This record gives sequence, structure tokens and C-alpha cells, in this order.
Amino acid sequence: MTCAPTSLAPLPVRDGEDGRRLAARHGAAVPRYTSYPTAPHFHAGIDAKVDADWLAALPDDQRLSLYVHVPFCEKLCWYCGCQTRVVNRHGPIEHYLDTLLVETGLVAGAIGRRLPVDALHLGGGTPNILTPDDLDRLMGALATHFAFAPGADIAAELDPRTLTRDWVEAAARNGLTRASLGVQDLDPLVQKAINRVQPFERSRDAAAWLRAAGIRSINVDLMYGLPHQTVAGVLETVDQVLDLRPDRIALFGYAHVPWMKPHQQLLPQAALPDLGERFEQQEAAAARLSAAGYIRVGLDHFAAPHDPMALAAGDGGLRRNFQGYTTDGADALVGLGPSAIGKLPQGYVQSIAATRDWALAVRAGTLPVARGLALTAEDRLRADIIEALMCDLSVDLTEVCGRHDAHPGLLQEDLLRLCPLEADGLVVRRDGRIAVTPRGRPFVRTICAAFDAYLHRGEAAPRRHSAGV
Ligand SMILES: C[S@@+](CC[C@H](N)C(=O)[O-])C[C@H]1O[C@@H](n2cnc3c(N)ncnc32)[C@H](O)[C@@H]1O
Ligand code: SF4
Repeated sequence: MTCAPTSLAPLPVRDGEDGRRLAARHGAAVPRYTSYPTAPHFHAGIDAKVDADWLAALPDDQRLSLYVHVPFCEKLCWYCGCQTRVVNRHGPIEHYLDTLLVETGLVAGAIGRRLPVDALHLGGGTPNILTPDDLDRLMGALATHFAFAPGADIAAELDPRTLTRDWVEAAARNGLTRASLGVQDLDPLVQKAINRVQPFERSRDAAAWLRAAGIRSINVDLMYGLPHQTVAGVLETVDQVLDLRPDRIALFGYAHVPWMKPHQQLLPQAALPDLGERFEQQEAAAARLSAAGYIRVGLDHFAAPHDPMALAAGDGGLRRNFQGYTTDGADALVGLGPSAIGKLPQGYVQSIAATRDWALAVRAGTLPVARGLALTAEDRLRADIIEALMCDLSVDLTEVCGRHDAHPGLLQEDLLRLCPLEADGLVVRRDGRIAVTPRGRPFVRTICAAFDAYLHRGEAAPRRHSAGV
């Protein structure tokens, strides 16, 4: 399959202007591909009964990953795209935790055996809104129902503004191995605009406490594309964060989806960088991190050369799941808490998002499933192609089609969709293999979108996704 000449003239070799034009041409809204098919295609046909059947069918030697969603924060960041709500009393958190423990029992009961767990991820929201006693209760209940492997990877997303030394010590005694600190941007003007004032000292103390408690792997979340951010400001934040010597850095492009997250309208819209500025901020930060010795991983991660993520990126061991990039190879993920998504061999299941409705279902003794999707053979083929592109930035279509017993002709339209990207040097095709070029890396989601059959069937509602860079 070769490309017909495109009506668009190929863009010249990169310079600042070229990057802006590439962003304008290929930066249209696309999914983040933390799963394929993506969550908007989940449907109510997958219910508690289906989930129970899928859990019961897990093989006896199935190794699991667990995800626990903590849907609360002390204060709302106005850019936030996460499933969370502000609470300023402990009552709702206690009720949530009691319910979570009931849910854990229901899920373990449906599985019917105490399966081994290799990895646990506490996400949110803000997991450190739980008290140290809450954390002890949660970890105790999980260990009752699941068999944590020695040395299991236990990770938590933490807000340095509210993290305490006591919390870190409780986490360490409960086996925390990895912590992810939300930093975003250190410029006071940006922090004010996003309703997240966080002096650098908070992040510095958090990193020091974690290291003192023996938690060796520290990730820092940064963002670009926020109001008032500039290339110079983003680089200043990167330089300060480098002083913390994080093992990993995630550099997220702000996903502006006010139709889904109305509070994002509180951001000063006129101060939001345009597509070209977003592109330049990302490229500048990436270059600075690479110059500091970090290995660029996938779309938006950077890992120190000693970090397992850098090693996984080099040997094909990198994976992508709902938490983003991971080195966790388990192919069954059990989600607990409102809105949590699980992945079982048969497909995806997502819990009810509203905490109140989730709790009502759990307290009525039902698995709180809202929707999901049973994977077809074609979904699995496309999921493998998209995951390989997102993680390895290349895919051998002949090999993947062979593995899935699929005729390569099935992908003819997808390859046609790649033509404009190929013409602009973002992707190359040779002998059945597709490789994202260094110039194409910021557009890898757009390249994946060429293989997204649902997107091109027009089933997605308009304005569902955020900008492609
Ligand atoms: C659950 S939060 C991290 C823990 C804690 N709640 C905090 O903010 O410090 C997960 C991360 O998602 C990223 N994030 C949140 N909203 C986003 C958005 N709209 N677009 C891109 N990234 C976003 C931020 O980098 C944030 O640190
Ligand atoms: S970014 Fe983190 S702290 Fe801020 S509102 Fe979202 S989940 Fe809460």
C-alpha cells in the first residue's frame, strides 16, 4: 500500500516555525490511548453479572495488579481532569473507606481464591487524604484477600502540599516502593491561575521524607499548556525539579476538556497557550531533560538510566494502562473504588463513578459495575498495534497480524490515514514495519488514532478528547 500524493505540501526540516505548523496540522483532538478501545466506548451491556463471571474465570495462577481509586482532595486544582471531589471533613472519607473494604470482600469473593498480586497502585484524587490509620486498615484488608508477592511494587500518587511525615512512615511500613508527587509548575503566577499554590519547599520536603523512609523510587508530575506558562517558565520549573533527582518525570500536556470538567472554565482562558506554544514548551522541556541524562520514554515520560522504566523502554518491557506508562506486566488488573477501571482477559469493566451511587451498589451487596467492553479479536489486534506504538514507537504489522491470525488487508484504510503523517516525516514505513520518527514522537497519539477503528466509524461524540500535543 503506497500513499497517493497529498494535497498538503510536506513541511520543511524542523525549526521553531515548522513545529508550530506541524502542531496546527496534526494536533487535532485525539484520545490518550491508556486503553483500546478507549473508555467512551464502554457500554452498560457489561454489568455486575458479567464482571462476576469474568472474575470467577480467572486462572488459578493469574497474577494480578490492583488499582485503588481515592476520589477526594482538600482543594480543587482548576485544571484537574481526574475523578475527584473536595471534602473538608473526615466523615465522607471514612464512609468511603468502609465501603471500599466491603467492595474488596465482594471482588475477592467473586474471584473465589486468594490470587497473587504483583503490583498495587493507589491513585486519585489524593491517596494521602487517608489518615495513617486509614492506610493501615486498607492495606490490611487488601492483604487479607490477596497474596502480595514479596517485593510487590506498591505505588501511590501524592500531593506534597498535604503530605506529612507520619503519612510517609505509615506508607513505608505498609510496603510503599514508589511515590508520584504532583508538582505541575513552580511559577507563582501559574500556580495562582490554576488554584494550586505549592512552594518548591513542599516538594523538596516530600522527596526527602520519602527517601529517608526508604522509598527509593520517586516520580514527579509536571505539566505544560497551563495558563501563563511559557517556554522559559517551564524550563525554570524543570531545572528546579532536577535538583530533587527524581527517578522518573511525567510531563503531561494539559488536557482541556471543559465540557467534561466544567471547573476548567475557571482558568483564565485567554492565558492558555495555543497549540504551537504547547508544542514548543513540550519540546524545550524534553530537550532539557534529555540533556540532564534522562531517557525519553514513550510520549510523555522521562526516566533516569538506572530506573526500571528506562530499562523496560529499551527491551520492549514497557506497557500502557489506565495509570499511563508502567513496567507492570500483569495482564489482569482489578480496579477498586468509584470510577476504577479493571482489565480482565475477556475485556474492560468500569465501576460507577459517583461515589454515592458506587457506595449504594456495594452496600446492597453487588459488584458496582457501570459499564465495560468485551474485546473482539479485531479489538485485540488494534490494541496491540496501538500499545506498541505508544510504548516502543514502532510496530511490526506483519508480526502482529501473524500473531492475531489477521489478514494485513484489514489495515488498508488505516495505512491510508497515515499518509499525511508520512508525508510530513512523522512516521516511516518499511517492510511491514511502522516507526515513529523523532520528529513524530510528540504526535504519537495522532499516529495511533489512524488505527482506531471506533474513532473513524464516527461513533465518538464530537469534542470528546483533548489536543493532540
Ligand atoms: C491524581 S493527580 C496526582 C496526585 C495529587 N492529586 C496531586 O495532584 O498532587 C494525577 C496527575 O494528573 C495530572 N493531571 C491532572 N489533571 C490533568 C489534566 N487536565 N491534563 C493533564 N494532566 C492532568 C497532574 O499532573 C497530576 O499530578
Ligand atoms: S490535580 Fe490532584 S490535587 Fe489537584 S484536584 Fe486533581 S487530583 Fe486533586
